[in-house]
Amino acid sequence: MSIEKNPQERLRWYGRRRGHKLRPRRQALVDNLLPRLRLEPAPEGASLDLAGLFPGPVSGIRLEVGFGAGEHLAAQAQIYPDAGFIGCEPFINGVASLLALIEEDGLTNIRIFDDDARELLPCLPEAGIGKVYVLYSDPWPKKRHQRRRFISDATLKMLARTMADGAELLVASDHMDYISGVLELMTRHADLSWQARSKRDWTEPPPDWVETRYEAKAKEQGRKPVYLRFLRNPRDQERDRENTC
Ligand SMILES: C[S@@+](CC[C@H](N)C(=O)[O-])C[C@H]1O[C@@H](n2cnc3c(N)ncnc32)[C@H](O)[C@@H]1O
Repeated sequence: MSIEKNPQERLRWYGRRRGHKLRPRRQALVDNLLPRLRLEPAPEGASLDLAGLFPGPVSGIRLEVGFGAGEHLAAQAQIYPDAGFIGCEPFINGVASLLALIEEDGLTNIRIFDDDARELLPCLPEAGIGKVYVLYSDPWPKKRHQRRRFISDATLKMLARTMADGAELLVASDHMDYISGVLELMTRHADLSWQARSKRDWTEPPPDWVETRYEAKAKEQGRKPVYLRFLRNPRDQERDRENTC
């Protein structure tokens, strides 16, 4: 499964990288704090030492793709101070907002990849991630734009590789066409299992949920969020499947 590349062999990015000019305090955080927290992808073929990214031992690593202004990521990092968090977001104004929260709250357990998460996923170690959040990802509603969506067969394959056995992938969205597209892709993915047993499982947020900016906007406009929880199947099952003909 290949991912669309442009002639310079970088992945094609359709979102925004920059909005309004940053206020001086935010710009100073980008100049001084971001370089200390920034994740650099490993050289080709190597994988990142995730535990070594954080000042002390961590109980597990969680990944948020497209953290927007970072309020969910910063709140989760406060709720789970023993975990290490990696946030990916190419929109620098969002990165600057997260940096402000990190500074205000004195958070030491967040590292930032300020680029397209698809560039980072191949550098993460196999089974290295304990939980993945993809919240209110751009739905690209027009049919001809749907291949720009973050969740695709190719990214699911990369995510499944880097998720530990039993790790959770949480997808939230208020866009029903996007949700049905995600469900279609995920339910045919052999390494992931949807956890819903009743309607409440996808209409109610998880107990430690922190509302994101996009969710607040969706609710204000009368749209109902959907929460899809998938677990990474144990790798033993894969081996059993491969050995059965
Ligand atoms: C609609 S916003 C939602 C932001 C936030 N999760 C929230 O709920 O408020 C989607 C965000 O995902 C980011 N994004 C989209 N594709 C991405 C990718 N491949 N890697 C990292 N971030 C991505 C965009 O830059 C944008 O900030």
